Amino acid sequence: MSTDVTHGAGGSGAAAAAEEDLVLRTSDVTLRFGGLTVLDKVEMQMRRGEILAVIGPNGAGKTSFFNSLTGAYTPQEGRIAFLPKDGGERSLLGSKPHLVNRYGLARTFQNIRLFGALTALENVKIAAETRLKAGPVSIMLGLPSARKAERESDERSIRLLKFVGLQDKLNEVAGSLCYGDQRSLEIARALATEPQVLLLDEPAAGTNPTEKLELERLIRRINTEMGVSVLLIEHDMRLVMSVADRVMVLNFGKKIAEGTPSEVQQHPAVVEAYLGTSAADADAVRNIIAEQRSAPDEESTQ
Ligand SMILES: Nc1ncnc2c1ncn2[C@@H]1O[C@H](COP(=O)(O)OP(=O)(O)OP(=O)(O)O)[C@@H](O)[C@H]1O
Ligand SMILES: [Mg+2]
Repeated sequence: MSTDVTHGAGGSGAAAAAEEDLVLRTSDVTLRFGGLTVLDKVEMQMRRGEILAVIGPNGAGKTSFFNSLTGAYTPQEGRIAFLPKDGGERSLLGSKPHLVNRYGLARTFQNIRLFGALTALENVKIAAETRLKAGPVSIMLGLPSARKAERESDERSIRLLKFVGLQDKLNEVAGSLCYGDQRSLEIARALATEPQVLLLDEPAAGTNPTEKLELERLIRRINTEMGVSVLLIEHDMRLVMSVADRVMVLNFGKKIAEGTPSEVQQHPAVVEAYLGTSAADADAVRNIIAEQRSAPDEESTQ
């Protein structure tokens, strides 16, 4: 028996979503490793400009879904389409990760991946330089156009580091930064490739409460000030419920619910999925539901 439900935020399901301005669309994405089905016919419609969270218990397939979107994994079945803002449609299924990045998707990793021996600025510059218009020959010859492009990419990298709050740490070695700063640096590096969609894999993991609040603000600013659509995997329910426009829930590779934060947090399949796994996650869901029930004027969906 399927427990799948799909609640459009507008309450109108797939037909309405088809008419919407989408930036990413997956259908029937199925990924297997040997006999293990990690993703099972996953369907997603991500609207341009939204913050869409992907939640689910450990091992639900969240990172595998990101890996499938960004070319690290190639699902055996299904379709993955990126719809750039200047029109057209690109299939991402099986694309090389660097091409996916060039098309307009950038990501951070659950386990931070930085060049630990390079400075914060150097880490961002490497990413920014993938967007340099000047070719390798003009760079080698030090032509004025190449020098100008490089100067611009330096300036942009510094601006981005300021944007994420690392203005005082430009020249610090990445490996010596505290965990929260390393997460911010990863975000700056992803932004340096000028994405239309930013995929964040557990950006709050390992951060302290103050850093979590800063992260919440940063995700909102990336979305509103830069106009970047954000796909967010996160276990911190408070962060998810506060920043996400919509939430999609995976469990054992299947999408079991989708909707606004208030819709999914009350959905029985979601509560059950969490209750069956991590006690901490289950407690977080229970608390949020309790708060929700005591708050006036909340919608209820089933
Ligand atoms: N390369 C791989 N080879 C074999 N199995 C894999 C591979 N990548 C992921 N898996 C399996 O796929 C399942 C989903 O893993 P995934 O990392 O996507 O979960 P997740 O939802 O991100 O979990 P978490 O919240 O713990 O990060 C797990 O059972 C995992 O062991
Ligand atoms: Mg993961």
